[in-house]
Amino acid sequence: MPLPLPKAELHLHIEGTLEPELAFALAARNGVTLPYADTEQLREAYLFSDLQSFLDLYYELMAVLHTVDDFTELADAYLARAAAQGVRHAEIFFDPQAHTARGIPIGTVIEGLARALDGAEERHGVSTRLIMCFLRDESAESAMATLEAAKPYLHRITGVGLDSAEVGHPPSKFREVYAAAEALGLRKVAHAGEEGPPDYIREALDVLGVERIDHGLRCVEDPELVERLVRERVPLTLCPLSNVRLRAIDVLEDHPLASMLEAGLMATVNSDDPAYFGGYVGDTFDAVRGALGLDREQMRTLARNSFEASFLDDDEDRRAR
Ligand code: HPA
Ligand code: ZN
Repeated sequence: MPLPLPKAELHLHIEGTLEPELAFALAARNGVTLPYADTEQLREAYLFSDLQSFLDLYYELMAVLHTVDDFTELADAYLARAAAQGVRHAEIFFDPQAHTARGIPIGTVIEGLARALDGAEERHGVSTRLIMCFLRDESAESAMATLEAAKPYLHRITGVGLDSAEVGHPPSKFREVYAAAEALGLRKVAHAGEEGPPDYIREALDVLGVERIDHGLRCVEDPELVERLVRERVPLTLCPLSNVRLRAIDVLEDHPLASMLEAGLMATVNSDDPAYFGGYVGDTFDAVRGALGLDREQMRTLARNSFEASFLDDDEDRRAR
């Protein structure tokens, strides 16, 4: 077996790496009863019809995460799996509101994740960054309160993102929050154009000033937008297995990744929520290569784009490769 291509992962929700086995182990440890008999029955629930049907399960299963150690264990398990698939750098999303809403302090979440990330270079050969996401189906006030609550931990956080149910929650809803995040020196990304229209991608760029678009899949419906994304070299953190599992596209063979690369878009390939969508990022690289017939040069372009689109500074960027 050839060694996996060195790559960076830029679109990964740490809560989406919660494998059924760890979910049951943490449930037992924390006295949480899951409404599934065993891991097999839980896996049977992983048949999604859209983003919301996934989010319902994703938030339900998080109830097993309670302590600093739980978050450390979750992140360490991800880093081990990612490293085995060639990941040298990971920019990791987390959803503080999904935890604070159930009484887990933001400090528990960040400290737990930070403990795993602090040892990641030595233990797994992976450099890391943390990106704090706001839940777009919650209010802008709640997002602002979350940013405020994160202030003691800003040295741990590289940037902010926007996730959860997209349609009906345009980026412009978070204009003030993103301005406040920028004033604090945080980098900015946002999910846009996963289920939402191309105009949400424009808003994320023009109103929030994001540096990368997470997903951005639906830009292909708007040639003028594609032209702009190419011209401005805006990175798109695509997640092809997620798109299939959440029914944004029917089958992987229909994914527009190859034509997006041909159009000159700065596309990257990522796993999103690998415990739920059938593969980590190396599996995703293999799957798109097979389904879309990408050649070695295209695979190398994807790997190169992942480092170029990352928030590593130039020196670190070179070292990671
Ligand atoms: N989209 C939006 N929100 C999310 C996702 C996603 O794919 N995964 C976790 N939160
Ligand atoms: Zn995502």
